Amino acid sequence: MKILVTGGTGYIGSHTVVELQAKGYEVIIVDNLSNSSIDVLDNIAKISGKKPLFEKFDLTDPEKTATFFKLHNDISAVIHFAAFKAVGESVEAPLMYYRNNLLSLVNILQGMIDNTIRDIVFSSSCTVYGQPDVLPAREDTPVQKAASPYGNTKQICEEIITDTSISANIRGILLRYFNPIGAHETAFIGELPLGVPNCLMPYITQTAIGKRPFLRVWGDDYDTPDGTAIRDYIHVVDLAKAHVIAVERLTGEKGKKNIETFNLGTGNGFSVMEVIKSFESTSGVKLNYEIKERRPGDIVKVWADTDFANKELGWKAEKNLDEMTRSAWKWEQALAKKEIAK
Ligand code: UD1
Repeated sequence: MKILVTGGTGYIGSHTVVELQAKGYEVIIVDNLSNSSIDVLDNIAKISGKKPLFEKFDLTDPEKTATFFKLHNDISAVIHFAAFKAVGESVEAPLMYYRNNLLSLVNILQGMIDNTIRDIVFSSSCTVYGQPDVLPAREDTPVQKAASPYGNTKQICEEIITDTSISANIRGILLRYFNPIGAHETAFIGELPLGVPNCLMPYITQTAIGKRPFLRVWGDDYDTPDGTAIRDYIHVVDLAKAHVIAVERLTGEKGKKNIETFNLGTGNGFSVMEVIKSFESTSGVKLNYEIKERRPGDIVKVWADTDFANKELGWKAEKNLDEMTRSAWKWEQALAKKEIAK
């Protein structure tokens, strides 16, 4: 079976491509390389022994997308990762976010309908829950008004897919990720943030390797055991595996509804300080950090109820926090070696 992975050279996309290949799927990636490198294709091949098919174009272009789908109407399912994802940037440039994240999905769905491709897995986020009143967050926890244009694009995209499934022969699985971190055990692929990272894990590893002077811990006066904010961190390889199961569920007619939504997390919340401690113990590096004011827009705590995903998908995150921080550090070190070699 041939699977289209949009954004397949990105962080979660590349790990998913490797897991699809391991299960014998043929993968075709579409990516405009706006936030990823073409080298990722060779690095995927180093792991799997197979370079995925690749086409570089922008999915917001309706003609190019239509032509692509016509040419590749043998695609069995689509996994749609390609999107902008920086919260702060989306506040600065909302139209750029709406144009990119919404138009690409509209064009993809049109291409699917025109070529009778039915199944799509969509990359959504726990951001749709905001700060839930009751934890852990379940799939039926009310979606809250998005705190940023980025978050809003995730909500709207979920709705676009749901609406489309009513009028056309489209089936979807919406995967709501909690906080993906870590890298492939080979350290051939991992997260490649452009410029200064916003997210915690790459900021920690870049500080430890000497790229950043210190980590700023955003607030230690939250209502949590150690005062720092709590998230549900999940190893990117566990996350990637769930996408393969989602594809199997759709193509194997195992779904119970046209649109199904699943939380992808471990079900465990860890504070910023706990992540730092795990990193220090797995890397042996003492991390430089300073406590700062709370970051505007941050929520206090969130973690997933994973029961539905565990039972229905037969999937469970297997890797613990230490495995996440260890693999993230191995990846940062591998990147540093490559930079020295250049
Ligand atoms: C953020 C987005 C979320 C998005 C996700 C994936 C916000 C409010 N949410 O999640 O919508 O889906 O990224 O891209 O931006 N932290 C520090 N110092 C740092 C960086 C982070 O203390 O330098 C803390 C944060 O305050 C937070 C935790 O680490 O408590 C995790 O932060 P981050 O990795 O940025 O993810 P989220 O904010 O949870």
